[in-house]
Amino acid sequence: MRWLIILLSLVFLMACSTPQLRPQAQAVANTHPAASQAGLDILNQGGNAFDAAVAVSAALAVVEPFGSGLGGGGFWLLHRASDGRQVMIDGREVAPGAAQRDMYLDPVTGQANKVASVNGALAAGIPGLPAALVHLSEQYGELSLADSLRPAIRLAKNGFLVNEHYRRLARFRLPVLASSEPARSIFLREGLVPELGTRISQQDLATSLESLARDGFSGFYRGELADKLVSGVQQAGGIWDKQDLANYRVKEREPVVIDYNGMRVISAALPSSGGLVLSIALNILEQYDLAAMDEATRVHLVVEAMRRAYQARAQYMGDADFVSVPTEKLSHKSYARALAENLNLKAAMPSQQLTGLNASEGHDTTHFSVLDKAGNRVAATLSINYPFGSGFVPPGTGVLLNDEMDDFSIKPGTPNVYGLVGGLANAIQPNKRMLSSMSPTFIETDGSVGLLGTPGGSRIISMLLLAILEAEKGAQASSWVALPRYHHQYLPDVVQHEPEALSDELKAELTAKGHKLESVGRTYGNMHAILWDKKNGRVTAASDPRGRGMALVE
Ligand code: DON
Repeated sequence: MRWLIILLSLVFLMACSTPQLRPQAQAVANTHPAASQAGLDILNQGGNAFDAAVAVSAALAVVEPFGSGLGGGGFWLLHRASDGRQVMIDGREVAPGAAQRDMYLDPVTGQANKVASVNGALAAGIPGLPAALVHLSEQYGELSLADSLRPAIRLAKNGFLVNEHYRRLARFRLPVLASSEPARSIFLREGLVPELGTRISQQDLATSLESLARDGFSGFYRGELADKLVSGVQQAGGIWDKQDLANYRVKEREPVVIDYNGMRVISAALPSSGGLVLSIALNILEQYDLAAMDEATRVHLVVEAMRRAYQARAQYMGDADFVSVPTEKLSHKSYARALAENLNLKAAMPSQQLTGLNASEGHDTTHFSVLDKAGNRVAATLSINYPFGSGFVPPGTGVLLNDEMDDFSIKPGTPNVYGLVGGLANAIQPNKRMLSSMSPTFIETDGSVGLLGTPGGSRIISMLLLAILEAEKGAQASSWVALPRYHHQYLPDVVQHEPEALSDELKAELTAKGHKLESVGRTYGNMHAILWDKKNGRVTAASDPRGRGMALVE
């Protein structure tokens, strides 16, 4: 009898301590209810997280045209439960074959033309999103591409209702939207921002999605749709060629893995700078006991880590298929130790004095996270860059093109729309991918798995850094996304912060340490996260209270 009791107790103890291998629920967290619903519908039809990711990406292309779309690109970070494979699907846009390093510089004055890299057909890189959806579906999905695209096609035909967010972004991009006839007739009403509740249906976009659903890669990158895209771009002064579309290829990249204080952070690889910048910042922070610090010292230290990590971004990072980026050295703990040598806990280091170390070796955008019941996961950040991208729609396609060319360094030291500077590593070259900050991320600990990401241009990476530090404290997903935010990106040399993020006392202490502070007026970011507690199988999801998010768990 005694043996039986001991045996039963052992079995009970083992059951309690063995992590649950499967989540007890599935979850989709993203910015629009119709897109979340599209993802859940696909999961309920027997699709896996990868099929759901196709459905959500395509639905977002329809209902949030200002943020992402068929005319843009993105990164999908995947974890496949059956074999633990982790991979980043790189569907980033590439520069057209006729692109040149100085294509946005005035030939006489050498001044950067910051309008041409942001507005109109010349601003658009070759889209990667349609190819990525085909790849995701064919290589990782259970359902057909046509099944996963069905909700988006229906949404494009039936239309969606204009909300306040749409109106704000359309107002911001009104002149450029009004100057492309197709964009004007789809997204505006009589040349003006549509009234609240106006229905936007997109028949041409539905036809383009149907072409993709029917013919896969060729349905977008070859044939009739490709012809319309190329001739529309060329007639509007752009430089796309049919070969540019036919030659576009998705890349599978090994994600960046960071060991930080017992956590594993898995994030985006080049051509996103996210994983490397996070790794430098976290490797600097790991050298300190953050929990033992007063708040002012802690915020100061995090800012100094951001400053150094973004400096390395500006100096070294670009598309590693074209330039040699010293990734191993940059992500090594010893590099961060050297970067921390001139870090003074009492005083800010002016960015102009930060020369960086030699590492040579030999507004809008969107994020969503999906977890299925088998434990497959996707964190994806997608973009057409600026709100409503380039504002240009090639006639008859319904495809709003990106203005991602502005993410290249169009002239060394000249800031892009997010104030980011860069050098030769991120200079324009034909077929090269422009450096990104989009950073879909997983946070793994012994007992939990987190999926997260956010839009926000250059601030994406610092938002994730703050969320990771919050996760380290054992906080829930709802507080990762709600956390007040501050940011430093090396240049401009200021700490940008949300109006309420820093108390008056904290501001005074940071100013005394030599920081320049700038309240950025309104809140920023739109983070969507899922947390799976492996000890009890519980799944929670949270969307940023600043946004209009919709996290569904069922
Ligand atoms: O790839 C990038 O880093 C940018 N094109 C992302 C733009 C963005 O997040 C705009 N969001 N507010």
